[in-house]
Amino acid sequence: MGAISITMIDGEGREVTIADASEGESLMEAARRNGVSGIIAECGGACSCATCHVYVDPDWFDVVGEPDEVEEDMLDMVDDIRRPTSRLSCQIALTRALDGLSVEVAPEL
Ligand code: FES
Repeated sequence: MGAISITMIDGEGREVTIADASEGESLMEAARRNGVSGIIAECGGACSCATCHVYVDPDWFDVVGEPDEVEEDMLDMVDDIRRPTSRLSCQIALTRALDGLSVEVAPEL
């Protein structure tokens, strides 16, 4: 099984390609491992900080899917900068279906 490739616009507006993401890890973990700026992940993936907030490319949102209720509550905390395709990257579990995914790191509050 090959690696999953993801394109991210980082916190400084640079395009970064993550070429070695694997199935089962979260998008946040793959981004941290690759040093993507703007993904702070203060809570370590426990869905309780929203410092891993990303905007999923609208073309990909249906594949990624909607946030669950707990994530939805956390996203309410970043309401000022929330967009319709906002997700917390620690809650996106990578699968082969997400190969080629494109997301943008949301600005810090
Ligand atoms: S890392 Fe804290 S909510 Fe995602």
